Amino acid sequence: MDAARTTLKVCIVGASGKLGQYMVQHALDRGHEVIGVCRAVSGGMLAACAGRITLAPVATDSRDFSWRGVAGCDAVLTVLVPRGVHHYSSGTAQAVLDHARPGARLVFSCGYHITRDGQDIYSWKVKALVQVAGRLAKLARLVDLDDQVEACRRVFASDTRWTVVRGSDLEEGETQGLPVWSRHVGDPILASNITRRVDFALFMVEAIGNDELVHEAPAIVGCRTASALAQKQVV
Ligand SMILES: NC(=O)c1ccc[n+]([C@@H]2O[C@H](COP(=O)([O-])OP(=O)(O)OC[C@H]3O[C@@H](n4cnc5c(N)ncnc54)[C@H](OP(=O)(O)O)[C@@H]3O)[C@@H](O)[C@H]2O)c1
Repeated sequence: MDAARTTLKVCIVGASGKLGQYMVQHALDRGHEVIGVCRAVSGGMLAACAGRITLAPVATDSRDFSWRGVAGCDAVLTVLVPRGVHHYSSGTAQAVLDHARPGARLVFSCGYHITRDGQDIYSWKVKALVQVAGRLAKLARLVDLDDQVEACRRVFASDTRWTVVRGSDLEEGETQGLPVWSRHVGDPILASNITRRVDFALFMVEAIGNDELVHEAPAIVGCRTASALAQKQVV
């Protein structure tokens, strides 16, 4: 699938959020038809795109995902948000897995803490964030990282054409270009641990047309970070 040249019908689940809005823009820039899925209360966040995208005001994590239009899409880009303690991430992932058409390209977002094969090597900072901050946030019923783990477990086990993009720490700013990636957190190229949010979104959209990323869980980092540039010199 050549996403750069073909007009595709692209569904963006979580379109109203920071990452989602950037994904909408990149997809429109590539000439795709965009359907933005978000809760009705969030629709106003996409006012700037009114008339250029179709909005589907749906509670994405409901098990029966009342909006069936997702089945008509060539690709579904999903922001997996570990928000609250009501299985928001796993509910959303399950809904997409259940209702996307067979063969559709599915791209999900998460953080470095997700591991596919257990071969990732984490810094003390990431471990502390997950073990301490993650548990405190769950106790406060704000964030449930375990549910994002469960969401990704279901995606990895599915027979869909999935990619799970694992984001580093994020920052705002102008685009630097397509992030570089590695299969395992702990690889030197990822050491800088920072990506522009606009470029995280770019990677998600470009992944639609990159079949090499099917059944991969790329951990990404900004292409102009010190660790990415150092690796380029070594190669
Ligand atoms: N440092 C980081 O921030 C970091 C690092 C690595 C990876 N990531 C990944 O980046 C993604 C998050 O991206 P983001 O920057 O777009 O986050 P965001 O702007 O905070 O995303 C907000 C999303 O949360 C949803 N949401 C659900 N309940 C909500 C509520 N009560 N109030 C507000 N929003 C609610 C919204 O869905 P509706 O659109 O339906 O309203 C919206 O799409 C996740 O996949 C995360 O794992 C983040």
